[in-house]
Amino acid sequence: MSKTFDISIDALRDATENALPEVSVGARHAVPSARITTPAAGDGRLGGRSFSSDVAVASHGGALAPEGRLPNKSFYIETFGCQMNVHDSEKVAGVLLGRGYRAAENPAQADLLLYNTCSIREKAAQKVFSRLGDHKLSAKNNGKVIGVLGCVAQQEGEEIFERAPWVSLVCGSASYRKLPDLVDQIETGGRRVMGLDLDTDETFETEITRRDNPFRAYLTIIEGCDYSCAYCVVPHTRGPERSRASGAVLSEVRRLADSGYTEIQLLGQTVNSYRDPSSRGMNFAALLRGVAAVPGIRRVRFTTSHPNDFHREIVEAIDEIPALCDHVHLPVQSGSPRVLKAMRRTYTREEYLEKISLLRSARRPISVTTDLIVGFPGETDRDFEETVTLLDEVCYDGVFSFKYSPRPNTPAMTMPDAIPEEEKGRRLAILQDRQRQIQIERNETLVGETFEVLVDGRHASRGQWSGRTTSNRILNFTSSSESILGEYVQVRVTRAGPNSLVGEHVESS
Ligand code: 5AD
Ligand code: SF4
Repeated sequence: MSKTFDISIDALRDATENALPEVSVGARHAVPSARITTPAAGDGRLGGRSFSSDVAVASHGGALAPEGRLPNKSFYIETFGCQMNVHDSEKVAGVLLGRGYRAAENPAQADLLLYNTCSIREKAAQKVFSRLGDHKLSAKNNGKVIGVLGCVAQQEGEEIFERAPWVSLVCGSASYRKLPDLVDQIETGGRRVMGLDLDTDETFETEITRRDNPFRAYLTIIEGCDYSCAYCVVPHTRGPERSRASGAVLSEVRRLADSGYTEIQLLGQTVNSYRDPSSRGMNFAALLRGVAAVPGIRRVRFTTSHPNDFHREIVEAIDEIPALCDHVHLPVQSGSPRVLKAMRRTYTREEYLEKISLLRSARRPISVTTDLIVGFPGETDRDFEETVTLLDEVCYDGVFSFKYSPRPNTPAMTMPDAIPEEEKGRRLAILQDRQRQIQIERNETLVGETFEVLVDGRHASRGQWSGRTTSNRILNFTSSSESILGEYVQVRVTRAGPNSLVGEHVESS
Protein backbone atom coordinates (compact mmCIF):
# COMPACT_ATOMS: atom_id res chain seq x y z
CA MET A 1 0.00 0.00 0.00
CA SER A 2 1.54 3.30 -0.96
CA LYS A 3 1.53 6.39 1.21
CA THR A 4 0.33 9.79 0.19
CA PHE A 5 2.86 12.54 0.68
CA ASP A 6 1.53 16.04 0.83
CA ILE A 7 4.07 17.93 2.77
CA SER A 8 5.92 21.20 2.79
CA ILE A 9 9.58 20.95 1.90
CA ASP A 10 10.77 22.75 5.02
CA ALA A 11 8.83 20.42 7.22
CA LEU A 12 10.27 17.53 5.31
CA ARG A 13 13.80 18.74 5.79
CA ASP A 14 13.06 18.94 9.49
CA ALA A 15 11.69 15.46 9.36
CA THR A 16 14.78 13.94 7.88
CA GLU A 17 17.18 15.96 9.96
CA ASN A 18 15.31 15.23 13.15
CA ALA A 19 15.13 11.61 12.59
CA LEU A 20 18.50 10.99 11.08
CA PRO A 21 21.39 12.82 12.62
CA GLU A 22 23.99 12.96 9.91
CA VAL A 23 26.62 10.30 10.21
CA SER A 24 29.49 12.69 10.62
CA VAL A 25 32.31 13.59 12.84
CA GLY A 26 30.97 15.67 15.68
CA ALA A 27 28.46 15.70 18.44
CA ARG A 28 25.16 13.93 18.03
CA HIS A 29 22.88 16.92 18.13
CA ALA A 30 19.73 17.42 20.08
CA VAL A 31 16.58 17.01 18.09
CA PRO A 32 15.00 20.44 17.91
CA SER A 33 11.40 19.40 18.03
CA ALA A 34 8.94 16.68 17.34
CA ARG A 35 5.96 18.53 15.99
CA ILE A 36 2.62 16.92 16.07
CA THR A 37 -0.42 17.76 13.98
CA THR A 38 -3.95 16.44 14.10
CA PRO A 39 -4.10 12.75 13.37
CA ALA A 40 -5.18 11.24 10.12
CA ALA A 41 -5.76 7.78 11.42
CA GLY A 42 -4.06 5.15 9.41
CA ASP A 43 -4.00 6.82 6.02
CA GLY A 44 -0.50 8.19 6.17
CA ARG A 45 -1.62 11.48 4.69
CA LEU A 46 0.47 14.44 5.69
CA GLY A 47 -0.76 17.94 5.91
CA GLY A 48 -0.79 21.27 7.67
CA ARG A 49 2.15 23.50 8.31
CA SER A 50 3.96 20.77 10.04
CA PHE A 51 3.87 17.09 9.18
CA SER A 52 2.59 13.89 10.50
CA SER A 53 2.41 10.38 9.26
CA ASP A 54 0.05 7.66 10.12
CA VAL A 55 -1.24 6.83 13.51
CA ALA A 56 -0.21 3.29 14.21
CA VAL A 57 -3.03 1.90 16.26
CA ALA A 58 -1.97 -0.87 18.53
CA SER A 59 -3.92 -3.85 19.75
CA HIS A 60 -7.07 -2.07 20.87
CA GLY A 61 -7.94 -0.46 17.56
CA GLY A 62 -8.40 3.19 16.86
CA ALA A 63 -10.57 4.33 19.73
CA LEU A 64 -9.80 7.87 20.75
CA ALA A 65 -10.78 9.45 24.05
CA PRO A 66 -12.78 7.38 26.45
CA GLU A 67 -16.34 8.64 26.68
CA GLY A 68 -16.77 11.91 28.50
CA ARG A 69 -13.04 12.64 28.44
CA LEU A 70 -12.56 15.16 25.68
CA PRO A 71 -10.71 17.99 27.33
CA ASN A 72 -10.57 19.99 24.09
CA LYS A 73 -7.11 21.07 25.05
CA SER A 74 -4.02 21.17 22.94
CA PHE A 75 -0.47 19.99 23.51
CA TYR A 76 2.97 20.55 22.10
CA ILE A 77 6.04 18.42 22.76
CA GLU A 78 9.60 19.53 22.30
CA THR A 79 12.08 16.69 22.21
CA PHE A 80 15.79 16.66 22.95
CA GLY A 81 18.24 13.81 22.59
CA CYS A 82 18.35 10.43 20.97
CA GLN A 83 15.98 8.55 18.68
CA MET A 84 14.59 6.71 21.71
CA ASN A 85 13.42 10.07 23.03
CA VAL A 86 11.98 11.05 19.67
CA HIS A 87 10.02 7.82 19.62
CA ASP A 88 8.93 8.19 23.26
CA SER A 89 7.47 11.57 22.27
CA GLU A 90 5.59 9.89 19.45
CA LYS A 91 4.06 7.56 22.01
CA VAL A 92 3.34 10.33 24.53
CA ALA A 93 1.60 12.23 21.71
CA GLY A 94 -0.42 9.07 21.04
CA VAL A 95 -1.48 8.90 24.70
CA LEU A 96 -2.65 12.52 24.60
CA LEU A 97 -4.44 12.18 21.26
CA GLY A 98 -6.16 9.13 22.67
CA ARG A 99 -7.47 11.28 25.50
CA GLY A 100 -8.93 13.85 23.14
CA TYR A 101 -6.11 16.39 23.18
CA ARG A 102 -5.36 18.25 19.95
CA ALA A 103 -1.90 18.94 18.65
CA ALA A 104 -0.92 22.64 18.78
CA GLU A 105 1.03 24.29 15.99
CA ASN A 106 3.55 25.85 18.34
CA PRO A 107 4.41 26.09 22.04
CA ALA A 108 2.64 29.43 22.47
CA GLN A 109 -0.71 27.97 21.40
CA ALA A 110 -0.51 24.84 23.54
CA ASP A 111 -2.47 24.36 26.77
CA LEU A 112 -0.09 21.58 27.73
CA LEU A 113 3.56 22.09 26.89
CA LEU A 114 5.87 19.13 27.40
CA TYR A 115 9.64 18.95 27.26
CA ASN A 116 11.06 15.51 26.65
CA THR A 117 14.56 15.89 27.95
CA CYS A 118 18.03 14.38 27.66
CA SER A 119 20.63 14.32 30.42
CA ILE A 120 23.38 12.30 28.78
CA ARG A 121 25.70 15.31 28.78
CA GLU A 122 25.52 18.42 30.94
CA LYS A 123 24.79 20.79 28.06
CA ALA A 124 21.72 18.86 27.01
CA ALA A 125 20.40 18.86 30.56
CA GLN A 126 20.94 22.61 30.97
CA LYS A 127 19.05 23.39 27.80
CA VAL A 128 15.73 22.39 29.27
CA PHE A 129 16.01 24.81 32.17
CA SER A 130 16.59 27.70 29.82
CA ARG A 131 13.55 26.61 27.78
CA LEU A 132 11.42 26.36 30.91
CA GLY A 133 12.31 29.96 31.73
CA ASP A 134 10.75 31.09 28.44
CA HIS A 135 7.31 29.94 29.55
CA LYS A 136 7.25 31.11 33.13
CA LEU A 137 4.82 33.97 32.48
CA SER A 138 2.33 32.06 30.37
CA ALA A 139 2.24 29.31 32.98
CA LYS A 140 1.50 31.89 35.66
CA ASN A 141 -0.87 34.16 33.75
CA ASN A 142 -2.57 31.96 31.18
CA GLY A 143 -2.77 28.69 33.05
CA LYS A 144 -0.55 26.87 30.59
CA VAL A 145 0.44 23.50 32.05
CA ILE A 146 4.15 22.78 31.72
CA GLY A 147 5.60 19.31 32.06
CA VAL A 148 9.09 17.85 32.04
CA LEU A 149 9.47 14.30 30.78
CA GLY A 150 12.40 12.01 30.12
CA CYS A 151 15.87 11.68 31.53
CA VAL A 152 16.21 15.10 33.21
CA ALA A 153 12.83 14.50 34.88
CA GLN A 154 13.98 11.13 36.15
CA GLN A 155 17.30 12.50 37.30
CA GLU A 156 16.25 15.77 38.91
CA GLY A 157 12.80 14.72 40.18
CA GLU A 158 11.34 17.09 42.71
CA GLU A 159 14.25 19.50 42.25
CA ILE A 160 12.56 20.62 39.05
CA PHE A 161 9.65 22.04 41.06
CA GLU A 162 12.20 23.91 43.16
CA ARG A 163 14.09 25.34 40.21
CA ALA A 164 11.02 26.06 38.09
CA PRO A 165 7.98 26.28 40.39
CA TRP A 166 5.69 26.94 37.39
CA VAL A 167 6.18 23.34 36.24
CA SER A 168 3.21 21.09 37.09
CA LEU A 169 4.18 17.69 35.76
CA VAL A 170 7.37 15.68 36.07
CA CYS A 171 7.49 12.21 34.54
CA GLY A 172 10.71 10.23 34.24
CA SER A 173 11.58 8.05 31.27
CA ALA A 174 11.10 4.85 33.26
CA SER A 175 7.59 5.95 34.35
CA TYR A 176 5.73 6.61 31.13
CA ARG A 177 3.26 3.88 32.02
CA LYS A 178 1.98 6.29 34.63
CA LEU A 179 1.44 9.13 32.22
CA PRO A 180 -2.32 8.65 31.76
CA ASP A 181 -2.80 8.75 35.57
CA LEU A 182 -0.63 11.84 35.84
CA VAL A 183 -2.61 13.58 33.10
CA ASP A 184 -5.82 12.60 34.96
CA GLN A 185 -4.51 14.27 38.07
CA ILE A 186 -3.63 17.42 36.12
CA GLU A 187 -7.11 17.50 34.57
CA THR A 188 -8.70 17.32 38.00
CA GLY A 189 -6.70 20.28 39.24
CA GLY A 190 -3.46 18.64 40.44
CA ARG A 191 -0.74 21.26 40.87
CA ARG A 192 2.40 19.20 41.10
CA VAL A 193 2.22 15.66 39.85
CA MET A 194 5.16 13.37 39.56
CA GLY A 195 5.98 9.88 38.26
CA LEU A 196 9.46 8.63 39.02
CA ASP A 197 9.35 4.84 39.40
CA LEU A 198 12.67 3.41 38.43
CA ASP A 199 12.25 -0.11 39.63
CA THR A 200 10.02 -1.29 36.85
CA ASP A 201 9.69 -4.40 34.74
CA GLU A 202 7.16 -2.84 32.38
CA THR A 203 7.64 -1.27 28.97
CA PHE A 204 5.83 1.79 27.65
CA GLU A 205 2.93 0.47 25.58
CA THR A 206 0.44 2.78 23.92
CA GLU A 207 -2.77 2.23 22.02
CA ILE A 208 -1.82 4.96 19.59
CA THR A 209 1.63 6.01 18.44
CA ARG A 210 1.84 9.24 16.53
CA ARG A 211 4.72 8.74 14.07
CA ASP A 212 6.32 11.91 12.74
CA ASN A 213 8.73 10.48 10.20
CA PRO A 214 6.79 9.41 7.12
CA PHE A 215 9.61 7.27 5.74
CA ARG A 216 11.08 5.44 8.68
CA ALA A 217 9.08 3.98 11.55
CA TYR A 218 10.81 3.75 14.90
CA LEU A 219 9.93 0.90 17.17
CA THR A 220 11.36 0.31 20.64
CA ILE A 221 12.02 -3.37 21.34
CA ILE A 222 13.99 -3.04 24.58
CA GLU A 223 14.01 -0.32 27.24
CA GLY A 224 16.50 0.53 29.99
CA CYS A 225 20.02 -0.82 30.40
CA ASP A 226 21.64 -3.43 32.64
CA TYR A 227 25.20 -2.33 31.89
CA SER A 228 26.84 0.18 34.18
CA CYS A 229 29.32 2.17 32.14
CA ALA A 230 31.10 4.48 34.54
CA TYR A 231 30.21 7.70 32.67
CA CYS A 232 26.60 7.00 31.81
CA VAL A 233 23.33 8.20 33.37
CA VAL A 234 21.09 5.90 31.35
CA PRO A 235 20.81 3.07 33.90
CA HIS A 236 19.71 5.75 36.41
CA THR A 237 17.27 7.46 34.12
CA ARG A 238 15.78 4.59 32.12
CA GLY A 239 15.96 1.83 34.68
CA PRO A 240 16.67 -1.88 34.23
CA GLU A 241 16.62 -3.62 30.87
CA ARG A 242 13.25 -4.98 29.75
CA SER A 243 12.33 -6.41 26.35
CA ARG A 244 8.95 -6.32 24.62
CA ALA A 245 7.34 -9.62 23.67
CA SER A 246 8.20 -10.62 20.10
CA GLY A 247 4.52 -11.14 19.26
CA ALA A 248 3.73 -7.50 20.11
CA VAL A 249 6.75 -6.28 18.13
CA LEU A 250 5.88 -8.33 15.06
CA SER A 251 2.23 -7.32 15.05
CA GLU A 252 3.26 -3.67 15.26
CA VAL A 253 5.57 -4.19 12.30
CA ARG A 254 2.72 -5.78 10.34
CA ARG A 255 0.47 -2.81 11.11
CA LEU A 256 3.23 -0.41 10.05
CA ALA A 257 3.69 -2.29 6.79
CA ASP A 258 -0.09 -2.19 6.21
CA SER A 259 -0.08 1.56 6.70
CA GLY A 260 2.63 1.97 4.06
CA TYR A 261 5.94 1.96 5.93
CA THR A 262 8.70 0.04 4.19
CA GLU A 263 11.55 0.96 6.56
CA ILE A 264 11.63 0.04 10.24
CA GLN A 265 14.23 1.04 12.79
CA LEU A 266 14.34 -1.08 15.92
CA LEU A 267 15.43 0.88 18.97
CA GLY A 268 16.99 0.16 22.32
CA GLN A 269 19.89 1.49 24.40
CA THR A 270 21.40 -1.96 23.89
CA VAL A 271 19.12 -3.18 21.14
CA ASN A 272 21.01 -6.40 20.52
CA SER A 273 20.68 -7.49 24.16
CA TYR A 274 17.04 -8.22 23.25
CA ARG A 275 15.59 -11.30 24.97
CA ASP A 276 12.02 -12.21 24.17
CA PRO A 277 10.10 -12.52 27.46
CA SER A 278 7.38 -14.64 25.80
CA SER A 279 7.43 -18.42 25.33
CA ARG A 280 8.80 -17.97 21.78
CA GLY A 281 12.12 -16.98 23.38
CA MET A 282 13.49 -15.23 20.29
CA ASN A 283 16.95 -13.75 20.48
CA PHE A 284 17.86 -10.54 18.65
CA ALA A 285 19.00 -12.24 15.44
CA ALA A 286 15.76 -14.26 15.29
CA LEU A 287 13.70 -11.13 15.84
CA LEU A 288 15.60 -9.37 13.04
CA ARG A 289 14.75 -12.25 10.71
CA GLY A 290 11.10 -12.10 11.80
CA VAL A 291 10.81 -8.35 11.22
CA ALA A 292 12.52 -8.57 7.82
CA ALA A 293 10.10 -11.33 6.77
CA VAL A 294 7.01 -9.14 7.22
CA PRO A 295 5.54 -8.56 3.74
CA GLY A 296 6.09 -4.98 2.57
CA ILE A 297 9.15 -4.33 4.74
CA ARG A 298 12.14 -3.48 2.56
CA ARG A 299 14.61 -2.07 5.07
CA VAL A 300 15.30 -2.93 8.69
CA ARG A 301 17.74 -0.92 10.79
CA PHE A 302 18.60 -1.18 14.45
CA THR A 303 20.42 0.95 16.99
CA THR A 304 22.31 0.98 19.36
CA SER A 305 24.28 -2.25 19.56
CA HIS A 306 26.52 -3.15 22.48
CA PRO A 307 29.75 -4.90 21.42
CA ASN A 308 29.38 -7.43 24.22
CA ASP A 309 26.13 -8.79 22.77
CA PHE A 310 27.15 -8.51 19.15
CA HIS A 311 27.44 -12.07 17.84
CA ARG A 312 28.13 -13.88 14.59
CA GLU A 313 24.42 -14.75 14.27
CA ILE A 314 23.59 -11.09 13.68
CA VAL A 315 26.13 -10.80 10.87
CA GLU A 316 24.87 -14.08 9.37
CA ALA A 317 21.33 -12.71 9.37
CA ILE A 318 22.47 -9.49 7.66
CA ASP A 319 24.41 -11.53 5.13
CA GLU A 320 21.45 -13.72 4.26
CA ILE A 321 18.59 -11.25 4.28
CA PRO A 322 18.72 -8.31 1.86
CA ALA A 323 16.13 -6.32 3.87
CA LEU A 324 18.54 -6.08 6.81
CA CYS A 325 20.46 -2.87 6.12
CA ASP A 326 24.21 -2.76 5.51
CA HIS A 327 24.93 -0.66 8.57
CA VAL A 328 25.85 -1.35 12.18
CA HIS A 329 26.40 1.31 14.83
CA LEU A 330 28.80 -0.24 17.33
CA PRO A 331 29.95 2.25 19.99
CA VAL A 332 33.47 1.59 21.20
CA GLN A 333 33.92 4.73 23.39
CA SER A 334 37.72 4.48 23.59
CA GLY A 335 40.61 2.75 21.83
CA SER A 336 42.62 2.39 25.02
CA PRO A 337 42.30 -0.96 26.86
CA ARG A 338 43.04 0.86 30.12
CA VAL A 339 40.34 3.48 29.60
CA LEU A 340 37.85 0.84 28.44
CA LYS A 341 38.40 -0.92 31.74
CA ALA A 342 38.01 2.28 33.74
CA MET A 343 34.84 2.98 31.77
CA ARG A 344 33.56 -0.52 32.69
CA ARG A 345 32.80 -1.31 29.08
CA THR A 346 33.12 -5.10 29.62
CA TYR A 347 35.29 -5.74 26.52
CA THR A 348 38.90 -5.16 25.57
CA ARG A 349 40.15 -3.41 22.47
CA GLU A 350 41.05 -6.83 21.02
CA GLU A 351 37.59 -8.23 21.70
CA TYR A 352 36.03 -5.22 20.05
CA LEU A 353 38.25 -5.67 17.02
CA GLU A 354 37.08 -9.29 16.78
CA LYS A 355 33.52 -7.99 16.40
CA ILE A 356 34.73 -5.67 13.65
CA SER A 357 36.38 -8.66 11.94
CA LEU A 358 33.05 -10.50 12.04
CA LEU A 359 31.45 -7.55 10.27
CA ARG A 360 34.26 -7.30 7.73
CA SER A 361 33.95 -11.00 6.92
CA ALA A 362 30.37 -10.53 5.69
CA ARG A 363 29.74 -11.20 2.00
CA ARG A 364 28.50 -7.67 1.42
CA PRO A 365 30.18 -4.52 2.74
CA ILE A 366 28.61 -3.39 6.00
CA SER A 367 29.06 0.22 6.98
CA VAL A 368 30.26 0.63 10.57
CA THR A 369 29.84 3.72 12.75
CA THR A 370 30.71 4.33 16.37
CA ASP A 371 30.58 6.63 19.41
CA LEU A 372 33.75 7.89 21.10
CA ILE A 373 34.40 9.84 24.27
CA VAL A 374 37.57 11.88 24.73
CA GLY A 375 38.92 13.18 28.03
CA PHE A 376 37.58 10.47 30.34
CA PRO A 377 39.20 10.95 33.78
CA GLY A 378 42.79 9.77 33.71
CA GLU A 379 43.00 9.52 29.89
CA THR A 380 46.66 10.07 29.07
CA ASP A 381 48.14 11.24 25.76
CA ARG A 382 49.02 7.63 25.10
CA ASP A 383 45.46 6.45 25.78
CA PHE A 384 44.17 9.10 23.44
CA GLU A 385 46.69 8.06 20.80
CA GLU A 386 45.24 4.54 20.99
CA THR A 387 41.83 5.94 20.14
CA VAL A 388 43.29 7.69 17.11
CA THR A 389 45.00 4.48 15.96
CA LEU A 390 41.71 2.64 16.37
CA LEU A 391 40.17 5.02 13.84
CA ASP A 392 42.89 4.08 11.37
CA GLU A 393 42.52 0.40 12.10
CA VAL A 394 38.73 0.20 11.80
CA CYS A 395 38.15 2.90 9.15
CA TYR A 396 34.70 3.84 10.37
CA ASP A 397 32.13 5.26 8.00
CA GLY A 398 31.01 7.72 10.65
CA VAL A 399 31.86 8.66 14.23
CA PHE A 400 29.91 10.55 16.87
CA SER A 401 32.53 11.94 19.21
CA PHE A 402 32.02 13.67 22.52
CA LYS A 403 33.99 15.41 25.24
CA TYR A 404 33.50 13.51 28.47
CA SER A 405 30.87 15.25 30.58
CA PRO A 406 30.71 14.40 34.29
CA ARG A 407 27.19 13.31 35.24
CA PRO A 408 25.62 13.07 38.68
CA ASN A 409 25.25 9.62 40.27
CA THR A 410 27.79 7.99 37.97
CA PRO A 411 30.99 6.31 39.20
CA ALA A 412 33.17 8.43 36.90
CA MET A 413 31.91 11.61 38.57
CA THR A 414 34.27 11.11 41.50
CA MET A 415 37.20 9.62 39.61
CA PRO A 416 40.51 11.46 39.98
CA ASP A 417 42.57 13.10 37.23
CA ALA A 418 39.91 15.08 35.46
CA ILE A 419 41.05 16.33 32.07
CA PRO A 420 40.82 20.12 31.61
CA GLU A 421 38.09 21.27 29.18
CA GLU A 422 40.64 22.86 26.90
CA GLU A 423 42.54 19.62 26.57
CA LYS A 424 39.34 17.71 25.87
CA GLY A 425 38.61 20.21 23.11
CA ARG A 426 42.08 19.75 21.64
CA ARG A 427 41.74 15.97 21.59
CA LEU A 428 38.26 16.16 20.09
CA ALA A 429 39.51 18.39 17.26
CA ILE A 430 42.38 15.98 16.47
CA LEU A 431 40.00 13.04 16.46
CA GLN A 432 37.44 14.73 14.26
CA ASP A 433 40.07 15.90 11.84
CA ARG A 434 41.48 12.41 11.42
CA GLN A 435 38.04 10.88 11.00
CA ARG A 436 37.10 13.49 8.43
CA GLN A 437 40.08 12.42 6.32
CA ILE A 438 39.08 8.77 6.65
CA GLN A 439 35.52 9.54 5.54
CA ILE A 440 36.73 11.56 2.56
CA GLU A 441 38.91 8.65 1.47
CA ARG A 442 36.21 6.03 2.03
CA ASN A 443 33.50 8.01 0.30
CA GLU A 444 35.71 8.75 -2.70
CA THR A 445 35.91 5.03 -3.44
CA LEU A 446 32.15 5.10 -4.02
CA VAL A 447 32.24 7.57 -6.92
CA GLY A 448 30.92 5.84 -10.05
CA GLU A 449 28.91 3.24 -8.11
CA THR A 450 25.12 3.05 -8.20
CA PHE A 451 23.04 2.67 -5.05
CA GLU A 452 19.40 2.27 -4.22
CA VAL A 453 18.13 5.12 -2.04
CA LEU A 454 14.86 5.72 -0.26
CA VAL A 455 14.03 9.29 -1.22
CA ASP A 456 13.22 11.27 1.90
CA GLY A 457 13.70 14.93 1.03
CA ARG A 458 13.99 17.60 -1.60
CA HIS A 459 16.22 20.68 -1.59
CA ALA A 460 14.22 22.87 -3.95
CA SER A 461 16.77 25.70 -3.93
CA ARG A 462 19.58 23.35 -4.95
CA GLY A 463 17.40 21.44 -7.38
CA GLN A 464 18.29 18.24 -5.56
CA TRP A 465 16.53 15.32 -3.96
CA SER A 466 18.01 13.44 -1.06
CA GLY A 467 17.83 9.92 0.22
CA ARG A 468 19.64 7.29 2.22
CA THR A 469 21.45 4.24 0.99
CA THR A 470 21.05 0.96 2.86
CA SER A 471 24.42 1.79 4.48
CA ASN A 472 22.75 4.97 5.82
CA ARG A 473 24.79 7.35 3.68
CA ILE A 474 23.11 10.56 2.59
CA LEU A 475 22.96 10.86 -1.19
CA ASN A 476 21.89 14.20 -2.69
CA PHE A 477 21.00 13.86 -6.34
CA THR A 478 19.41 15.40 -9.37
CA SER A 479 16.46 13.85 -11.16
CA SER A 480 14.10 14.84 -13.90
CA SER A 481 11.26 13.08 -12.07
CA GLU A 482 8.57 15.26 -10.55
CA SER A 483 7.54 13.19 -7.58
CA ILE A 484 9.79 10.51 -6.17
CA LEU A 485 9.41 11.29 -2.48
CA GLY A 486 9.06 8.05 -0.53
CA GLU A 487 10.19 5.94 -3.49
CA TYR A 488 13.22 3.68 -3.90
CA VAL A 489 15.35 4.82 -6.83
CA GLN A 490 18.77 4.02 -8.27
CA VAL A 491 21.36 6.80 -8.00
CA ARG A 492 24.86 6.95 -9.50
CA VAL A 493 27.44 8.69 -7.30
CA THR A 494 29.27 11.52 -9.09
CA ARG A 495 31.01 13.26 -6.18
CA ALA A 496 31.87 12.52 -2.56
CA GLY A 497 32.26 14.66 0.53
CA PRO A 498 33.11 13.58 4.07
CA ASN A 499 29.49 13.43 5.22
CA SER A 500 27.44 12.88 2.11
CA LEU A 501 27.52 11.88 -1.52
CA VAL A 502 26.28 13.63 -4.65
CA GLY A 503 24.79 11.81 -7.61
CA GLU A 504 22.29 11.53 -10.41
CA HIS A 505 19.14 9.49 -10.67
CA VAL A 506 19.54 6.53 -13.02
CA GLU A 507 16.13 6.75 -14.61
CA SER A 508 14.73 3.71 -16.29
CA SER A 509 13.85 4.46 -19.90
N1 5AD B 1 29.95 12.26 28.52
C1 5AD B 1 30.17 12.27 27.19
N2 5AD B 1 29.55 11.43 26.35
C2 5AD B 1 28.71 10.53 26.87
N3 5AD B 1 27.97 9.56 26.29
C3 5AD B 1 27.27 8.93 27.25
N4 5AD B 1 27.54 9.47 28.45
C4 5AD B 1 28.44 10.47 28.24
C5 5AD B 1 29.10 11.37 29.09
N5 5AD B 1 28.91 11.37 30.41
C6 5AD B 1 28.02 9.27 24.86
C7 5AD B 1 28.47 7.84 24.60
C8 5AD B 1 27.21 7.18 24.16
C9 5AD B 1 26.50 8.31 23.47
C10 5AD B 1 25.02 8.12 23.28
O1 5AD B 1 26.72 9.41 24.31
O2 5AD B 1 29.41 7.87 23.54
O3 5AD B 1 27.42 6.08 23.30
FE1 SF4 C 1 24.95 3.84 28.97
FE2 SF4 C 1 26.70 1.82 28.83
FE3 SF4 C 1 24.05 1.30 28.99
FE4 SF4 C 1 25.08 2.35 26.73
S1 SF4 C 1 25.57 0.32 27.61
S2 SF4 C 1 23.21 3.02 27.81
S3 SF4 C 1 26.69 3.68 27.53
S4 SF4 C 1 25.33 2.26 30.58
